[in-house]
Amino acid sequence: MIAIGNDHTAVELKKEIIGLLEEMGLEYKDFGVNETKSVDYPVYAYRTARAVAKGECELGIVLCGTGLGVSIAANKVPGARCALCSEPYSALMARQHNDANVLAMGARVIGPELAKMVARTFLEGAFEGGRHARRVDMLTRLDSGEALE
Ligand code: RB5
Repeated sequence: MIAIGNDHTAVELKKEIIGLLEEMGLEYKDFGVNETKSVDYPVYAYRTARAVAKGECELGIVLCGTGLGVSIAANKVPGARCALCSEPYSALMARQHNDANVLAMGARVIGPELAKMVARTFLEGAFEGGRHARRVDMLTRLDSGEALE
């Protein structure tokens, strides 16, 4: 199950990404809006990231105009590791090295075809573990307010 959430700037991009999810045979839960009336992106990023952090969804995708606001909001949810990506290399590394579980993209930054390529790469990528696991564990410790000295 994939969580997806968006603000008013990314209604069209979300439709494109949902089309990709359907093509990939992936089920999804939509936490975003479907109208272009202005809304506050933190709400939708939070709901999407929370579904991932709680384990209700394996991965999430958050969309706003730049991808910045939703990525900042998602990363404030303990257990969420959100990566803002505009090209596939970063999307692959986000999964392989950072075990990112939420992908952020900006609807005003990238076009739909590149966004779908980025999303597919993210969804198909897998965490490599090994030395990266220690570092991801450190990220998890930051969630609980631990100081890394
Ligand atoms: C909305 O105008 C815009 O600020 C929002 O979509 C996003 O880009 C915020 O980071």
